[in-house]
Amino acid sequence: MDHLLTLQDVPRAWIEALLDRAQAFADGVAVPPALGGVAVCTLFFEPSTRTRLSFDLAAQRLGAHVLHFDAASSSTTKGETAADTFRTIEAMGVRGFVVRHREDGAVAALAALAAPGTALVNAGDGRSAHPTQGLLDMLTIRQATGRAIADCRVAIVGDILHSRVARSDLHALRALGCRDIRACAPASLLPRDATLDGCAVTQDLDAALDGADVVMTLRLQRERMQDGLVDSLEAYHAGYGITEARLSRAAAHAVVLHPGPINRGVEISDAVADGPRSRILAQVRNGVAVRMAVLEALLG
Ligand code: CP
Repeated sequence: MDHLLTLQDVPRAWIEALLDRAQAFADGVAVPPALGGVAVCTLFFEPSTRTRLSFDLAAQRLGAHVLHFDAASSSTTKGETAADTFRTIEAMGVRGFVVRHREDGAVAALAALAAPGTALVNAGDGRSAHPTQGLLDMLTIRQATGRAIADCRVAIVGDILHSRVARSDLHALRALGCRDIRACAPASLLPRDATLDGCAVTQDLDAALDGADVVMTLRLQRERMQDGLVDSLEAYHAGYGITEARLSRAAAHAVVLHPGPINRGVEISDAVADGPRSRILAQVRNGVAVRMAVLEALLG
C-alpha cells in the first residue's frame, strides 16, 4: 500500500496485522527508528487536536523529523491551492504527509500528484473517511471486550450523515466480519446512500442499545450541518443522548466510545463520558500506537 486513504476494501489480514503491531507498540515493545532521516508533514487544512498531535508524537517516536503546516499562517491565505502547497512541501524532500481537508476526495487528489516514494495518510476528508480513527476504534474494541470484532454487537449512534468516523468504522467492522451492526439516528441524520448497507437501521435508541457490547457515539457536527436538521440540542439529547439511564438497555459489560471532541450534554452525558464504561481516553492513547504502526508500514 503506497498511501492510506480509506479502509474501504482494505483486506482483513492487513487490518489485523496493523492492529497487532499497534498493540505491540501499546504494550511497550522496543521502538525501532524506522523513520530515521524521514521528514513528515502534518498538512491540516481543518482544525484538529488529537489526530494531529498523536501523528506528531507517533512520527517522532519512530525517529522522523516532523513539520507542521499551519493553514492560518500559510500562503493558502494568499490563494495558494492545496495542490501547489503539497508540491511545494514535497519539493523540500518531505516523504510523509498526514492530510486533513474539508472536501471529500481532497486527500486522494493530492495522493494522485505524489512522486514515487511519497506516502499520504488521510487524517479526515469531508464526510468520506478517517481511516486511522477507524483503526484505533477497532483496537479499542478488541482491548475493551476481549473478543473478536466479528462477535461484538455494535451500536453506532448519532450524526452518521456527516461522520467520516462512522464511515471508516463501518468499513473496518465489515472487513473484520462484524455481523451485528446497529445504526441509530434521527431520520435527518441518516445517510440515504449505501453507507449503512447491511446494518440494522433504526431511529429508536433503546432498540439500538438493546444488548449491545459496544456503543460508538458520534459528535453532532454542527459545523457541517444545515439549520433545521435537529429541532434543538435539548431535544436531540432527550432522543439520542447517551446517558446512564439509556445505557441500562445495553449489555452489563458494554463500553462507550466517542471519537472526540465531545459536545458534553448533547450526544453524551458527563456521567457516561467520565464514567467506568467510557473508553474515550483509551481511544486517544491507542491513536498514538495505531499511527506509529501506520507510519512504519508506509514509510519504514
Ligand atoms: N477524532 C478526531 O479526529 O479528533 P480531532 O479533530 O481533535 O483530530
